[in-house]
Amino acid sequence: KVLVLDYGSQYNQLITRRIREMGVFSELKSRKMTASEIREYNPKAIILSGGPKSVYEENAFTIDNEIFELGVPVLGVCYGMQLMAQNLGGKVEANPGNGEFGQTTLNHTEHAGRLLANTPASQTVLMSHSDNVTALPAGFEVIGGSEKTPIAAIADEKRRLYGVQFHAETTLSENGKQILQNFVKDIAGATPNWDMSGFIDDQIAKIREIVGDNKVLLGLSGGVDSSVVGVLLHRAIGDQLTSIFVDHGLLRKNEAEQVMSMLGGKFGLNIIKVDAQTRFLDKLAGVTDPERKRKIIGNEFIQVFNDEAKKLDGIEFLAQGTLYTDVIESGTDTAQTIKSHHNVGGLPEDLQFKLIEPLNTLFKDEVRELGEKLNMPHEMVWRQPFPGPGLGIRILGDITEDKLEIVRDSDWILRDEIAKAGLEGDIWQYFTVLTGVRSVGVMGDYRTYDYTIAIRAITSVDGMTADFAHIPWELLQKISARIVNEVGHINRVVYDITAKPPATVEWE
Ligand code: XMP
Repeated sequence: KVLVLDYGSQYNQLITRRIREMGVFSELKSRKMTASEIREYNPKAIILSGGPKSVYEENAFTIDNEIFELGVPVLGVCYGMQLMAQNLGGKVEANPGNGEFGQTTLNHTEHAGRLLANTPASQTVLMSHSDNVTALPAGFEVIGGSEKTPIAAIADEKRRLYGVQFHAETTLSENGKQILQNFVKDIAGATPNWDMSGFIDDQIAKIREIVGDNKVLLGLSGGVDSSVVGVLLHRAIGDQLTSIFVDHGLLRKNEAEQVMSMLGGKFGLNIIKVDAQTRFLDKLAGVTDPERKRKIIGNEFIQVFNDEAKKLDGIEFLAQGTLYTDVIESGTDTAQTIKSHHNVGGLPEDLQFKLIEPLNTLFKDEVRELGEKLNMPHEMVWRQPFPGPGLGIRILGDITEDKLEIVRDSDWILRDEIAKAGLEGDIWQYFTVLTGVRSVGVMGDYRTYDYTIAIRAITSVDGMTADFAHIPWELLQKISARIVNEVGHINRVVYDITAKPPATVEWE
């Protein structure tokens, strides 16, 4: 296994991920780990991550210098390289310009050595720093540099200590993967023997140990993350797990039935289904402001969850489908499998559970891989994202049962046609929106004055930015015809061709 020490960079999670992709287990741990703790942990290699501080600042994050004497290969990335250089006797100073941000060219020196082996002598890397290493510690040599950063990659081959100023973990460093692989496999000699099955076994053992005879509660949304947590926990602790599925009436067609029959039926989870449609729709009646809608839905969800939790006796733990991406901000001192919590995602203080988050070292696509390894059906594992507020934010204006039926039916047609065309895997998210616009149409020689449905379909990597999906005209034509013919009160269908930004994915 490879230990990554956390100095706070946004890219930290990517380092462990890249290493797991090589089949070598990797974890991010606190920068406060001491040399003796690390000796006990027994990693094959150590990576010091990047971070936002300057190593010469007063409150800079530091390192137990004995770590460099363990005989374990160390690679410092960005801040990690600067920390290593400074602490071993080199020098770090502010970059004379305004720093170096973005893609730049890295050139090998004649000593490119083992770290940069099998990469081009001149290659594109991602830089993001305001400080530079300006003097090397004894025993080190420069193996690569850029125009603004002459000391951009360093090596002490004898002690197997290495540093790169650039972020090898991002895909913007073209040969980053090769460089990390050189370090992990060739230099450190780690053998690839890890995969998702290993993760499942580890987690099951861990969960059993921590939960013991106690009971666990899970809020199940039917989305991939909470569903995977449900199946994993059920495997680990069986009926000690109780799940709560809240039907807030803003779900898609057949959604509640699917979740219940798949997770409750096939996988045997003990699920309490709460029919809270009336509660939600009553609270939402007449509300048109998007933010108010979201707040009402969020609050009501917590109320319902809290009410149900109170009815249950002896629950000690609350399980959540938190992913790695969700925990980056909170710092990875906390990013362990289990942590104590009092206030989870806005849950009230009187819900005092300990928290179990088995997925908090994984990314979405790793969770999907895990779901497949757990024999969950493809359509469940590859579900498109569905927002917590559900169809409530896909009806512009006030929400009524009639309007919900319109969005539900049109959404179903869209999903059906996309599936038939085999495009599910190509489009990141696709749904319909009931716009508040009414317009004139003609159907069967009669004038109509009815609603407009918008189709929203996007391609994206993470939902942060998006482009509209280029669905073939013929398919759009078919979808449009079906919606107008099969869904009541719709006489017009439009296609949303805006990117995000400036638009958002959802309309509200
Ligand atoms: P936006 O509309 O912000 O959407 O561009 C980006 C992605 O996030 C989803 N989304 C949500 N997911 N709760 C969620 O769990 C929410 O309140 C929420 N709002 C938007 C949206 O579906 C898209 O995938």
